[in-house]
Amino acid sequence: MENTATLRMEQILKIFGPVTALKDVTFSARPGTVHALCGENGAGKSTLMKVLAGVHIPEQGKIYLDDQEVQFSNPGQAIDAGISMLYQELDLADHMTVYENVFLGREMMSSVPFVIDRVGMIRQTKELCDKYGFDIDPEAVISSLTTGQCQIVELLKAIMRQAKIIVMDEPTSSLSEGEAHRLFEIVNQLRTQGLTIIYISHRLEEVNMLADDISVLRDGQVVATGLASEMDIDVIVKHMVGRELKDFYPSRDVLIGDICFEADSLASEQGINDISFNVRRGEIVGMAGLVGAGRTEVANAIFGINPLIAGGIKLDGKELRIKRPADAIRQGIAYLTEDRKRSGLCTNLPCSWNMTMPNYERIGMKNLLQLRKEQQLCADFGSKVSVKWSHPDAPADSLSGGNQQKVLIGRWLMADSEFIIFDEPTRGIDVGAKKEVYSLLNELASQGKAILVISSELPELFGICDRILIMRRGHLVGDLATDQATPEQVMHLAAVEA
Ligand SMILES: Nc1ncnc2c1ncn2[C@@H]1O[C@H](COP(=O)(O)OP(=O)(O)OP(=O)(O)O)[C@@H](O)[C@H]1O
Ligand SMILES: [Mg+2]
Repeated sequence: MENTATLRMEQILKIFGPVTALKDVTFSARPGTVHALCGENGAGKSTLMKVLAGVHIPEQGKIYLDDQEVQFSNPGQAIDAGISMLYQELDLADHMTVYENVFLGREMMSSVPFVIDRVGMIRQTKELCDKYGFDIDPEAVISSLTTGQCQIVELLKAIMRQAKIIVMDEPTSSLSEGEAHRLFEIVNQLRTQGLTIIYISHRLEEVNMLADDISVLRDGQVVATGLASEMDIDVIVKHMVGRELKDFYPSRDVLIGDICFEADSLASEQGINDISFNVRRGEIVGMAGLVGAGRTEVANAIFGINPLIAGGIKLDGKELRIKRPADAIRQGIAYLTEDRKRSGLCTNLPCSWNMTMPNYERIGMKNLLQLRKEQQLCADFGSKVSVKWSHPDAPADSLSGGNQQKVLIGRWLMADSEFIIFDEPTRGIDVGAKKEVYSLLNELASQGKAILVISSELPELFGICDRILIMRRGHLVGDLATDQATPEQVMHLAAVEA
């Protein structure tokens, strides 16, 4: 088959200042297979793949494609050699259309000199969408798409570039269940065409189901590699963390107090309607629903990102007026957004700033910066969420994906808010860190905070919440006590029209 390439990476060394991200890593992948790459946050998975994709130049080591040594000094060269990477933090031009992104840097030219063949590019994008069954308008602007759809556009880009090796870094972390299944079908299709898929995921069930081969990285080294059929999830976890993980979900024996947060008949132009619910002090309430059901929209409306057109919000019985996020923060509401890059972090700024900036008023630094206090707070909250950084002042984008998430959680712990919304708090986080996040949520609840967790992972909601709200098409369609509900019941409410 012409579309194949055997990949070998040998003794790769990659150093970032004080951090040795990869030590002597040797990795190979076979054509026509899915090779999963597992490991804790910061283990070096993305870095290894960025070396392959020409983003990082290794200090040492060699890369071979079909026994030919290759050297990439930029991503363009790797792409030309047939290697495409779908990045963990999506990497599309937001203001451009789907087809423009698919052809970015490789535009088709028309027969008229210097004129781009738009019609041709739109047609080819459409054909590809039809072939793989993607329901995406080639002329839609990226910023109007959901994160899941953006992922598909990245995939279109790779397929259009005739990639032989496609690296997917956490591809399903922002997809709905339906979209994820569609993606698995595509992965299977690509595998039978002889492509190599390198698949990074913290969702070990997926890995178990999809992969032919598995390699596990720990602290920049490969600690295990072999056939997926010979490594079950417990074995993978053991290699990842170096020990067994017990009691994944913390036990909840918190005292549930008075009503803290109340939403009364909220509606917004973005399509949510008549949303009423409350969260008590000490309570962790989950919100389930399919992607697009309006869960994030509820959070956006509460936090003042999108205006309410009806309804009111109360905190401890007091009516709040929220016109923008700063109003919400000042009055004791915090919101961890689902999309770190688009609306969460300023990735080029120091982690410390990312943690403190939205909190200046709440930590008493509205008019006067106090550097020492700021540093102390960052160190305290950094260790509280056990983030791995070389220094609190390191730029946020020098951290691994999961550690960036911890910086955001640290920000909202620092805010000491009364009502905290966590939208997909464990996205991109490894099993060990997930457990830590669950304990943090539990701890916040036991301090009497009221917590709303939006999550697409039902086991997670059942594992940590007292109650689960279910959204469907902008409406609240269920409110169930976790110990009296079943996952099937929740799925049914989320998916089926009444
Ligand atoms: N551009 C960079 N500058 C400095 N350090 C970096 C940079 N990129 C990665 N690192 C460091 O290299 C190590 C490996 O990070 P990497 O992103 O490869 O981890 P990962 O396995 O992909 O983790 P995650 O599951 O959280 O995405 C981490 O300690 C990280 O902080
Ligand atoms: Mg990563």
